[in-house]
Amino acid sequence: MATREEADILVRLAREYYVSGFGRSESFYGRPGSIVEFAEGHYAVDIHGSRLFDTETCASACYLGFGRPEVMKALQAEMARLPSTTPLFVPTAPLLKLGEKLAAISPGNLKYSVFGANGTDATEGALKISRQYWKALGKAGKYKVLHRIPGDYHGMSLATVSASGHTFRRTPYEPLMAGFVSFNAPNCYRCPFEKALPDCHLLCARELEKVIQFEDPDTIACVITENTNTGLGIVPPPPGYMQAIRETCSKYDVLLIADEIITGIAKTGAWFESEKHGIVPDMLCIGKAISAGCGALAVTHVSEEIGKVLAETGNLHHGFTYGGLGYLAAAGLAGIAYVEEHDLLARAREIEAIMGKRLKSLMTQSPVVGDVRMSGAVQGIELVSDKSAKSIFADPWEVASFISEVGREHGVLLNCQFPHYGNVITMYLPLTSTNAELAMVCAAIEDVVDRVARRYL
Ligand SMILES: Cc1ncc(COP(=O)(O)O)c(C=O)c1O
Repeated sequence: MATREEADILVRLAREYYVSGFGRSESFYGRPGSIVEFAEGHYAVDIHGSRLFDTETCASACYLGFGRPEVMKALQAEMARLPSTTPLFVPTAPLLKLGEKLAAISPGNLKYSVFGANGTDATEGALKISRQYWKALGKAGKYKVLHRIPGDYHGMSLATVSASGHTFRRTPYEPLMAGFVSFNAPNCYRCPFEKALPDCHLLCARELEKVIQFEDPDTIACVITENTNTGLGIVPPPPGYMQAIRETCSKYDVLLIADEIITGIAKTGAWFESEKHGIVPDMLCIGKAISAGCGALAVTHVSEEIGKVLAETGNLHHGFTYGGLGYLAAAGLAGIAYVEEHDLLARAREIEAIMGKRLKSLMTQSPVVGDVRMSGAVQGIELVSDKSAKSIFADPWEVASFISEVGREHGVLLNCQFPHYGNVITMYLPLTSTNAELAMVCAAIEDVVDRVARRYL
């Protein structure tokens, strides 16, 4: 552990020299948990010696915890054999095996893998491929990208920001790219149309068809969407929504891109959440957990049809110096093997059941718990100041910081990712969490909501 003096120096360095890509204020770095010294298993240890159960697992990348021995062994063995990329960007054995594995575990006819480093490479790649695909078929007029607002987050590049639904991440970089058109994301707790299931007859899904008709299908290349809107605080789609979106895309010859950079790889109780919702997208974006949390690796996984058209009609110009490191693929494969061996798809569903049983009761018992939403180990608990009006707290930033503070008292890292849109505790629990750890997280959340109610109501 860092000495007090070393810790003070690190806090000063963070304040003086470090620019966070996630808009942290200077005061953040003095707080517990803000600079990590090391991590092991399910715990991160900060420079002040606090040991915290990590409910966020590096935004879901470390879905098997930190330093899982089977994963580390595969990573280190491959790193020793081939420490970097090979010359001229040629693939390595683990990368090819990972590509084959993805084709086996992804739904339908998804087959070919375009490797990149960050999730942003994968979504940006999907957008580029959608335009190239239509051009290759002689339909160059199909270039527009339809995307959902608010929430749905697809990355940090200019195209992916243009396709994303966080106002605070869009405004500083305007004007954004032309040809990006938004439509309303579903949110049954706060319906944008102020309707409710089942009487709404999925108005949110039907809106897409209207937007496509209005924009002219001959101008539209693709729809990009998350299944569960993680960027809005874990908002799963209503039943039937994704199927309706799929049908509309097929009807109008529009490619469907499912961004599963958070939800992909076992966390929702299926290899991919698209499967749970009964759809086969034309492209699937996978990142984060694809390297079992060991580093930057991502994939734009495309259908057989798209792969063939690209192969027959021209080269794909979308590659990166470090896009597709073999040792990260080896780590990712070891992670997938671990999931299979320990039936962690079932464990993700069990985690949902265990957490749901305890936390959903807070919706009736606590005056501040408005909604509890879960898709496997991907979970959100929404706190409001008035349940009947679903009001956001007067100062959601202060409430977010209080939630983290109380969580830390329990040895649990709790995070409200987007106070801009209210206070949702977002969690991507490790699939290897023990029942005792899940109970610890529930106890922390129960105390959090009790103390938030006493302090802010
Ligand atoms: C749904 C989703 N898409 C895309 C991205 C971008 O991934 P990356 O940060 O690896 O570029 C993220 C990152 O959080 C994400 O959650």
